[in-house]
Amino acid sequence: MTARTILITGAAMGIGRAVAELHAARGHRLVLMDVNADALEAAARELGDNVAASAGSVASLEDCDRAVSMAVDRFGGLDGVSHNAGIQRYGDVVQTSLALWNEVLDVNLTGAFLVAKAAMPALRKSRGALVLTASIQGMAAQPGALAYVAAKHGLLGLVNGMAMDEARHGVRVNGVAPGSVDTPMLRDAIALDPNPAALNRAVDEMHPLGRRARPEEVASVIAFLLSEEASFMTGETVRVDGGVLSRIGGAPQTEESGA
Ligand SMILES: NC(=O)c1ccc[n+]([C@@H]2O[C@H](COP(=O)([O-])OP(=O)(O)OC[C@H]3O[C@@H](n4cnc5c(N)ncnc54)[C@H](O)[C@@H]3O)[C@@H](O)[C@H]2O)c1
Repeated sequence: MTARTILITGAAMGIGRAVAELHAARGHRLVLMDVNADALEAAARELGDNVAASAGSVASLEDCDRAVSMAVDRFGGLDGVSHNAGIQRYGDVVQTSLALWNEVLDVNLTGAFLVAKAAMPALRKSRGALVLTASIQGMAAQPGALAYVAAKHGLLGLVNGMAMDEARHGVRVNGVAPGSVDTPMLRDAIALDPNPAALNRAVDEMHPLGRRARPEEVASVIAFLLSEEASFMTGETVRVDGGVLSRIGGAPQTEESGA
């Protein structure tokens, strides 16, 4: 595979970190972006020489522009973007303050728009690819996570809209929709529950495959969508969810059903 330059957001931890590890192992040049500057520097150091770090928030167009400029100045261009930066907050419509709504939308939806806005001129030049990490919560809703659910639904619209606008420039835009993934975000969310052990079991059991994903299992799908192997895919958001959204309840409990 030819070495390419990839910008990865949310790269200090979790899914973004796994995307960075996979692409570094495959010999690509990377610009890593994250708001957690210390963890970002540590990740970049560990991943080798062809890895640059640009600390900043995806909610700032200036920070996104700086990360893209780093790719262009240091590596001569940009071929792909994997956008993973995101935050999880909880509340229904009454509990969700305007400040919390704005915080979640700023990072999880506007952040994706700003990363794409900053990167698209360079991606048009390279006829590159962009992959947004959404969630199955962009297709269905967990109760009590309204701002997150709304932002993730918005990401699917960004994927479709940008795929249509960028096709004539040769840029492909796709998304991934993970189920539960074993990352700091999931572990922190589970720790909020009064009975974390029971919730841990429930999270695994709700996936027909019987477990949560490892971050590498999402990273490999993102790498595929960024690569030429996915050259005829655009406007698609691929579920990487262990079957969660394929399940419908209500079947009789028989030996054959395994229930
Ligand atoms: N973990 C899951 O179960 C799960 C499931 C579905 C979707 N997702 C999505 O996958 C993406 C990655 O999640 P994760 O589980 O790896 O989360 P994580 O919290 O483990 O890692 C997210 C990274 O994003 C960074 N980040 C947060 N806000 C940022 C900002 N404003 N600018 C730049 N970087 C920022 C964090 O510092 C962190 O390094 C998120 O968009 C999340 O919504 C996660």
